Formats: sequence, structure tokens, C-alpha cells
Amino acid sequence: MDIKDLRINGKRLRQSLEEMAKIGATPDGGVQRLTLTDEDKTARDLFVQWLKEIDLDVTIDDMGNIFGRRPGIHDGLPPVMSGSHIDSQPKGGRFDGILGVMGPLEVLRTLHENNLETERSIIVVDWTNEEGSRFAPAMVASGVWAGALDKDWVYQRTDINGKRFEDELERIGYKGDVHCHRWPVHAYYEYHIEQGPILEMEGKRIGAPKGILCLHWYDIYLEGEANQVGPTPMEGRHDALCAAAEMILKVNQLPDAMGGNMVATVGEIQNYPNSRNIIPDKVHFTVDIRSWDDTHALKAWERLQNEFKTIARQRGCPIRIEETWRVEHSPFNEQLVQRVLETAADLGYPGHYMVSGAGHDASYMNQVAPTAMIFVPSIGGRSHVEVENTTWEDCEAGANVLLHCLLKSADE
Ligand code: GLV
Ligand code: MN
Ligand code: MN
Repeated sequence: MDIKDLRINGKRLRQSLEEMAKIGATPDGGVQRLTLTDEDKTARDLFVQWLKEIDLDVTIDDMGNIFGRRPGIHDGLPPVMSGSHIDSQPKGGRFDGILGVMGPLEVLRTLHENNLETERSIIVVDWTNEEGSRFAPAMVASGVWAGALDKDWVYQRTDINGKRFEDELERIGYKGDVHCHRWPVHAYYEYHIEQGPILEMEGKRIGAPKGILCLHWYDIYLEGEANQVGPTPMEGRHDALCAAAEMILKVNQLPDAMGGNMVATVGEIQNYPNSRNIIPDKVHFTVDIRSWDDTHALKAWERLQNEFKTIARQRGCPIRIEETWRVEHSPFNEQLVQRVLETAADLGYPGHYMVSGAGHDASYMNQVAPTAMIFVPSIGGRSHVEVENTTWEDCEAGANVLLHCLLKSADE
């Protein structure tokens, strides 16, 4: 058989995705597989079992990253890699992340059953905690692997119940003994759903992002003065939630105020003591700012901070600001991006050059290895929600693009 005619098994890919979707399944058709929970462990166990079934060399490092390596003819050459994440958002979807783990697994199954050899080794990877929803920030394990984040800092991060990242990693049995560190990689491809509306709007099947926006995360803590809501006059109150409300609107108005080219969001808030008849005395909320232009995002933050401080002063609510995390915008390797588009065209799939607004481990991988991504359409542009959906045909098409991109990179 001509290698050009090789295709992955779409039915098997679908079955794997359906099996995974059962782990942490939510009543409304999504999944909740927060990082380092029992659901994450169950899905990891199944993934490792599947890696072993096709005789891959399995390695787990001390960030919990799982690697499955299929040796090449020239084992000394830098390998090609592909992967994504098994964890999900709370009430997340059945495709975000897991498609980019099951996709390369399906590629390796295809090579395995056809007894195909490649010059370079091919590695499939599941990166721990891509989402950053339970333990902020996101993409920490690829960040540590790439040398951009400090492992001990990540280990100390806590969830909302005060549980430590490292303790939870140990508890689920995925703190491996291999030191998490980067090695030379010839090419890294991450396969993912688009998570936005562009491909559907353009009527295209495959997206090739030129890169990923910068991501800046902040945590805001406000102090107010608690009191009985009935007897306390409106004048002279120090209501931390009202201060937060004003600030949240400033975040929402920020892109307009800055002249566009960015998005800004408050997605998480905790209010204390959270009783309808107590004036709130403590609020925590998050800020997420993204742009292709890092300087623009930093200038926006300067402006926002000043606005926050003014509001805090006016309301008599002391503010504490934590600059939690920043990852620069990530322009991918143009040759690999073109390879994705050419491969899509060769397979008869219309491709589209675009940008990724969502964060991915590819962002950190891009700092250490030539990197590109392969996107397939998200129905209705919906993601990080239970109704997140992508057609099985598109899942199969994207995996075939991945197959041929990996083959080209593995044989050069
Ligand atoms: C990751 O899912 C992100 O884009 O926040
Ligand atoms: Mn993802
Ligand atoms: Mn996600």
C-alpha cells in the first residue's frame, strides 16, 4: 500500500472518545474530569492500559505527564510528539483536550497494526492540568517540562478546598519517578477542537492556527466590612461585593476602552460569607486578559489596575492584587503550520489559516520545539460547556491530517 493512502480508523477513534466520555459524564451530556481527581485517575488508567496494548514505552514523570513512545529506526534522533490533555473544565465538553490525546493514540494504533516503521520515534503525551480550573494556572505541566515554570511553585498551588497540587498528584498515584524535564523534540503537533465559531462560519474543515494569544491571569482579593443588612444604613457601608461588581464591569469594558484586539473576562468569583442578610466582607475574583499583542495586554492591565484602585478607595475596600500567571503570545513554526494546510489539502479537506484564542500546551511546547496545531470545527462555536460537539467525520478528518503530518515529520 502507498503510505499516502493510509488512514486512521475513524470508528475506533469514536469508540475511544465515547469510552473516555463515560468517565466523569455529566447528566447533560458533558464531562467533569477536573485535574487530579478520581475521574482524572480513572481516565489516565485507561489511557495507560491502551498505551500498553500497543507496546508503547510508557513513562510518567513527577508532574504526572504520561508519555507513550513508539521507537523509531533511529532512536537517537529527536522524536516527534503529539498530545493534549485528559482533564476538563467543570461541566466541560467531551472533546476539549481528549481529542488531542485519543487522536495521536489512534495514529499510533494505525502504525502498529500496519507494522509501519518510522525513522524517528513518535511520542503521544497527556499533559497534567491543562485547564487550570481546579489548580490555577493552566498548562502547568507542559510549562514545567519546557522549563518555563518552577515545579515547586506548581506543587504548592491549592484548590478551593486548600488541597495541594502535589498531594493530589500523589493521592491519585501519578507522581512518577522520572524527573520532569524537556528533551529535544523534532516537531510537536497538537490536535484540538477549535472551541470557537470561525471554521463553521468559513465552511472549512481543518484549521491551522498561526499561533496562540497571550494569556494573563490575575487574582483580586477585596476586604469589606460585614454587618447586618437591615439595620445598617446605606451610607458608610464597605460592601466588598459592590466594589467587585464595579470592577467586573470595567473588565468587560476593557477591550472597547483599549480599542479592541483583546478579550477580557471575569469567570470566577467567591463571595463571603455569602449570606443574603450579611454585607459581604470578602471577595475573590479572577481576571483573564488575552491578546495577540502582549504589550497591548500589559497596557490594558495598567489601566485596569488604576481603575480597580480608584474603586477600592471610593468604596473603602482594601484591595490585594496577585499577578498569577503570564504566558506570552505564541507564534508557531510557519513551516509546520503550512504543512498542516498542505496535508489537509492533499487529503481533500478545505483548510483555514487562523489564530487560537484558547490556550493550549502547544504554547509552552512552542518555546522549545517547532510546533503547530490542527483544529476541527466546534458545532455552534461552543466549548467549555456540556453541549460542546464536533462531528465524528471531522474528528476522523483531523486525525488523518495528524497521521500524515506526524509521518512526514517522523521520516525527515
Ligand atoms: C484553556 O482551556 C483556556 O483557553 O483557558
Ligand atoms: Mn484544551
Ligand atoms: Mn479547555
